[in-house]
Amino acid sequence: MAIKIHGLTKSYGPVPNQVRALQNLDLTIELGSLTMIVGKSGCGKTTLLRLLAGLEEPTTGNIELEGLAQPNIGIMFQEPRLMPWLTVQQNIEFAKLHKEVDQQFGQDTQQLLLALGLERFGQAYPTELSGGMAQRVALGRILYSDPDIILMDEPFSALDFFTRRDLQKTLRQLWQKDGKTIIFVTHDVGEALLLGQRVLIMEAGSLIGDLKIDLAYPRNPGATGFQQKREDILKIIGGF
Ligand SMILES: Nc1ncnc2c1ncn2[C@@H]1O[C@H](COP(=O)(O)OP(=O)(O)OP(=O)(O)O)[C@@H](O)[C@H]1O
Ligand SMILES: [Mg+2]
Repeated sequence: MAIKIHGLTKSYGPVPNQVRALQNLDLTIELGSLTMIVGKSGCGKTTLLRLLAGLEEPTTGNIELEGLAQPNIGIMFQEPRLMPWLTVQQNIEFAKLHKEVDQQFGQDTQQLLLALGLERFGQAYPTELSGGMAQRVALGRILYSDPDIILMDEPFSALDFFTRRDLQKTLRQLWQKDGKTIIFVTHDVGEALLLGQRVLIMEAGSLIGDLKIDLAYPRNPGATGFQQKREDILKIIGGF
């Protein structure tokens, strides 16, 4: 069971000045895996997530979700995008409130609040939360509808170092417990190596690197294996 991407191309704009955000991308991502995507600004990372989420159509090529009849895909952004007039609990249960998802919900809100360290904040409003807590709520909102695939577009990059580390740990633990398929875009090679089983490197709409990261969790950025992988990735990215 896998996400299979065949010859995926996405172009924007009229023909003479067309931007090719993705160029003939071929890629298979196993269900249950945690895959990180890194690459320079403008290389097509967000475009790939938008196509995977079905928010946009490919120019050519296709995405096959093998083994998923009616896939439920959640997407999380750099900003939490919470509803300010709803409590934390109501934000998490947003899909139910608005009957967007007509299904039995797999996740219990109280357990989600606990797993996300928000158990005392169910009745709080978004303005009462720190940036890290707000991102936890955004993650809870996605997990609530029990998605098959979670797409994350630099979800922790606006957070300070300590908050980011806490959220990275929470995400890793959730993934290890639930085995959800996660595709996570980041600018931060260290973050990619802390979390990913696999790191994909993109440049100008193409894949230029695909590394398996077979280091045990939790990972130590000071360890030799970690440093070696970082060098491998930086060599592929190049530019110095
Ligand atoms: N809606 C759009 N209309 C026109 N061009 C677009 C559109 N969306 C993206 N592009 C172009 O496609 C290319 C890839 O953009 P994309 O947002 O996927 O990059 P990215 O890797 O996510 O960058 P960043 O790291 O800065 O978020 C860029 O050249 C961008 O200008
Ligand atoms: Mg982007």
